[in-house]
Amino acid sequence: MPSKIKTPTTQYVCSECGYTAPKWLGKCPDCGNFNTMQEELVRADTQTSEPRRAVGTIKTRALPISQIGYEKFDRVKSGISEFDTVLGGGIVRGSLVLLGGDPGIGKSTLLTQVAAHLAKGHPTLYVSAEESCAQVKMRCDRLNLASENLLLLNETCLEDIEESLGDCQFVVIDSVQAIYTESMSSAAGSVGQVRECAAKLMRIAKSRQITFFIIGHVTKEGALAGPKVLEHIMDTVLYFEGQPEDNYKLLRAVKNRFGSAQEVGVFEMTDEGVKSVRDYAELFLSETRGVAAGSAVTPSESGNRCMNVELQTLIAKTAYGMPRRMSLGVDYNKLVVLIAVLEKRCGIPFFSSDVYVNAMGGIKLSEPSVDLAICAALASAASDVPIDKYTAVFGEVGLTGEIRPVTRADKRVYECIKTGFKKVVLPAKNLKACEKYADKIELVPVKYVGQMLKALQFRKE
Ligand SMILES: Nc1ncnc2c1ncn2[C@@H]1O[C@H](COP(=O)(O)OP(=O)(O)O)[C@@H](O)[C@H]1O
Ligand SMILES: [Mg+2]
Repeated sequence: MPSKIKTPTTQYVCSECGYTAPKWLGKCPDCGNFNTMQEELVRADTQTSEPRRAVGTIKTRALPISQIGYEKFDRVKSGISEFDTVLGGGIVRGSLVLLGGDPGIGKSTLLTQVAAHLAKGHPTLYVSAEESCAQVKMRCDRLNLASENLLLLNETCLEDIEESLGDCQFVVIDSVQAIYTESMSSAAGSVGQVRECAAKLMRIAKSRQITFFIIGHVTKEGALAGPKVLEHIMDTVLYFEGQPEDNYKLLRAVKNRFGSAQEVGVFEMTDEGVKSVRDYAELFLSETRGVAAGSAVTPSESGNRCMNVELQTLIAKTAYGMPRRMSLGVDYNKLVVLIAVLEKRCGIPFFSSDVYVNAMGGIKLSEPSVDLAICAALASAASDVPIDKYTAVFGEVGLTGEIRPVTRADKRVYECIKTGFKKVVLPAKNLKACEKYADKIELVPVKYVGQMLKALQFRKE
């Protein structure tokens, strides 16, 4: 190691009780937990017992709020409209954006596109710690990106990356788990390394007004490696979600200091990279809607965005003693409970049938408001009567068969109006909030599952 680099001392701190030791230990001698000792930097100022500075040398002072001026966030467009939406209207200069996601979901692809677009007007650097520069170039060629001005760097040492930044304004780090700082001896990707690298990038971002896009891998448990330690350092945390085999991916903001953390962007994976899907109205609906029995449409919320999603069910006579229940996109236990409610409260028999439920487009629906649509689809399949193409259903179903109100009902009704629906079956208690739309769409309030069946004409009472 060159002699000019002074290696700061590190210590090992127990993440459970805070016990410190100069060496790594498998078991914390203080609290007795295993594998909790993590390497941390020892700050120079904590090593001396002298006071850090004289009293009275304070540089910052508290100010009355009226004297504080406005700071205008300069936003730069990324060239991908959905990405801008999720960020809250564009990229904020000097911010730290973390992009998390499973391997192969398209993180590198998305940020290569963003970097190539930014490089047209600003000095932009793509630091690839995982792939060689030739691989990144090949990706740019494959995606037909005009990226002549994009700078590429294949480097894993953070200190070297810092020196290569030059006057770059936008920097992509692919990925934070592959880079390391020389001030720590633990391996790249360890909690201490990831935290220290992120903190260092934060200091560079704020002092030099550089925007960093940092790619982070998600661990098996679904959290970013370096468990959550990264999230509170970042200004914005985005997760790229979706099944690798699905074409549609959702980009979700889980934290945003410059915009709403409720935004969701819809992307499509094409040969030319990730593309924004603006017309998502028809994305989660099928063409057989209204013709085949067993499907119901429900307006479901994903972040700030309300989307109409179709639920399809299939009922087949069971060939075995035990009838099967299978659900894709909705909770299995919820399906079993709703089948029991329909059997007990409405007398629809399912005990000798296999039941399959699927949410279209590979989306996951976890809201309680989808209950009523599952019931409607099941009843439609059981009676072999299709639900009208322009009718949507939403509401939470209780075990007694009562229909409970759901949140933001007016937004859901508005989404139905926007996408050309003519009738909405909704919880009676939500009617008041939606009455303002009564002249645009037929509102059918229901109190019990039986009433919903009647409203959809599966049953005459
Ligand atoms: N050479 C290639 N040809 C065609 N498709 C590719 C190629 N390389 C990657 N892809 C597609 O792009 C997707 C996203 O890749 P990538 O952006 O590298 O993912 P991540 O960085 O999230 O791990 C992959 O799942 C794959 O389907
Ligand atoms: Mg990658």
